[in-house]
Amino acid sequence: MAPTTLTALAEEKTLQESFVRDEDERPKVAYNQFSDQIPVISLSGIDDVGGKRAEICKKIVEACEDWGIFQVVDHGVDAKLISEMTLLAKEFFALPSEEKLRFDMSGGKKGGFIVSSHLQGEAVQDWREIVTYFSYPLRTRDYSRWPDKPEGWRGVTEEYSEKLMGLACKLLEVLSEAMGLEKEALTKACVDMDQKVVVNFYPKCPQPDLTLGLKRHTDPGTITLLLQDQVGGLQATRDDGKTWITVQPVEGAFVVNLGDHGHYLSNGRFKNADHQAVVNSNCSRLSIATFQNPAPEATVYPLKIEDGVKPVLEEPITFAEMYRRKMSKDLELARLKKLAK
Ligand code: SIN
Ligand code: FE2
Repeated sequence: MAPTTLTALAEEKTLQESFVRDEDERPKVAYNQFSDQIPVISLSGIDDVGGKRAEICKKIVEACEDWGIFQVVDHGVDAKLISEMTLLAKEFFALPSEEKLRFDMSGGKKGGFIVSSHLQGEAVQDWREIVTYFSYPLRTRDYSRWPDKPEGWRGVTEEYSEKLMGLACKLLEVLSEAMGLEKEALTKACVDMDQKVVVNFYPKCPQPDLTLGLKRHTDPGTITLLLQDQVGGLQATRDDGKTWITVQPVEGAFVVNLGDHGHYLSNGRFKNADHQAVVNSNCSRLSIATFQNPAPEATVYPLKIEDGVKPVLEEPITFAEMYRRKMSKDLELARLKKLAK
């Protein structure tokens, strides 16, 4: 009988055809060949205006201009909360398939459990299982889509969401100030900021060289905070995929990614991190991505345009429209690629 989940698939000796990527998309660097090129920034003293704040902000801004990706430690999110969130998430993925499938999201896009996500209309699948839920604004919380197992996960998830919203806003303040704007400029530009959490579980893979856990992409939103375990697999590129580096996992750190919205609002000054996740045959991997997104009706347009500099967008559009254009561009690229084969 065909296996129903990736956890079961991971016991297979070969990779099913639907996971095999074209050669140009396959991993070029191993999951554990770590690079220290992505800065690890301590936020200790960030509120110390007139003291350490200026130095910390400078590091954050440089990292956003350079890669659009950096790691933060001493970020104020309790280590106990982080380890509870990780342990409970791992326990969820270890549940029998029937339990996980109670939260199957095939019926809609409001969150839940998905065996293997892939771009709408695209044939190749990502080697991952995910749980996704919306946590902010509060009215978007649909507890029926938040797994009730393992016991206590919902409560931990709530606290985690709140703490990460606080951390994201703090980082957006730094970027707003760096643009010469008021502290709240980027958060205000998000109108009623959304928060969506995606918990990724990448099972062991029999042929990791042929596939990806998560295809190359930029995040659409403003800023993403990613918690990853110590296995490794997150990779970044800044030369259009010619070279890749594997981000070195740092215990208790959050990887911070700037998304497309952050990129456009800074008129391209801050990079939207180009990244992917690779898998391996030795062990499974867990990562938890917290996406801070603008409201669908929020305007996407540079907040400040220096004299003589062209805006990166021709006209202001809504975030919903920005997202729609991004998806249709991706689909078109996938279609052209298929035709060229
Ligand atoms: C993501 O890009 O959302 C997740 C990447 C990872 O799992 O490392
Ligand atoms: Fe991402």
